[in-house]
Amino acid sequence: MGPEDLEKVLRLLPLGESREEVLVGLDTPDDAGVFLLDAELGLVQTVDFFTPIVDNPFRFGQIAAANALSDIYAMGGTPLTAMNIVCFPCSLGMDMLAEILQGGLEKIKQAGATLLGGHTVDDEEPKYGLAVTGRVDPGRILRSRGAIAGDLLVLTKPLGTGILSTALKGDFLTEAEMEPAIEGMAELNRDASRSALAAGAHACTDVTGFGLAGHLSNMLPERGLSCRIHAEQLPLYPKTRDMAAMGMLPAGAFKNRDFLMGWVALPCNLEDFYRDILFDPQTSGGLLIALSPDALDTFYNELDWSRRPEVIGEFFESEGRLIEVNYENG
Ligand code: CO
Ligand code: CO
Repeated sequence: MGPEDLEKVLRLLPLGESREEVLVGLDTPDDAGVFLLDAELGLVQTVDFFTPIVDNPFRFGQIAAANALSDIYAMGGTPLTAMNIVCFPCSLGMDMLAEILQGGLEKIKQAGATLLGGHTVDDEEPKYGLAVTGRVDPGRILRSRGAIAGDLLVLTKPLGTGILSTALKGDFLTEAEMEPAIEGMAELNRDASRSALAAGAHACTDVTGFGLAGHLSNMLPERGLSCRIHAEQLPLYPKTRDMAAMGMLPAGAFKNRDFLMGWVALPCNLEDFYRDILFDPQTSGGLLIALSPDALDTFYNELDWSRRPEVIGEFFESEGRLIEVNYENG
């Protein structure tokens, strides 16, 4: 669902006053809810599932699980338990379903979590994902909002999965050519989250369906803070640029663009490609982390990064709420 429709529906819910144990609820654009169990323990809960974006069932299972687990990491939490959510047409055969679930289970185990159960529904199109429960130190929750002027913005995975999966569906790309992105989508955001906590990050979210611009806009309060993005510093999966040039844009990119255009300032010399990549919906994208420039060394030194995350922008004080795109063109 696009960001505009979701906002409309949520406004119709008669939520009333929330209980005081609700540390993070529906009133903020956060990745998961947090419920305080006692002074030292917050429960983090999230759910996510979707239709296959690759043909290989095992890889699909890995990606869907990594994507669902990511919202726990985006809150600074540790996954504890997971439940499978499955829609599946029996005609595809149980072997395929088993492979999807095996891929998911591998990621649940890698996250150090335990699969407790699940629910399966007969459906025309397969869908898979997880409901995940995690724990978080109530004093160290990584919220979407909390960045301050002067903070750097780091992105921990490349962009382009929406464009690439559209190309894969249209047979303009093979699964082998898409392998770096498949590998990236299956990767847990666990290490990125650990580094963000070690570096005392001010804010964090993950990049998923609303694209880079959409999730970054969630990091900005109603007024007073904006973010400048450096277009040429955006990390990209291989082939993203070629596929975007061929017009391989998912429908979600247009919904995201229509909803967000008012908050995004694009320079007039900006190459069309960057417009596409800003709004491209991502699957199991990286973490967007706001941290003080002093904390960058700690962030990098916490881990041996195989692919060092890019600093893609910085936050600055401003009247309104704006994503400003900087483009050097050279
Ligand atoms: Co999220
Ligand atoms: Co989510």
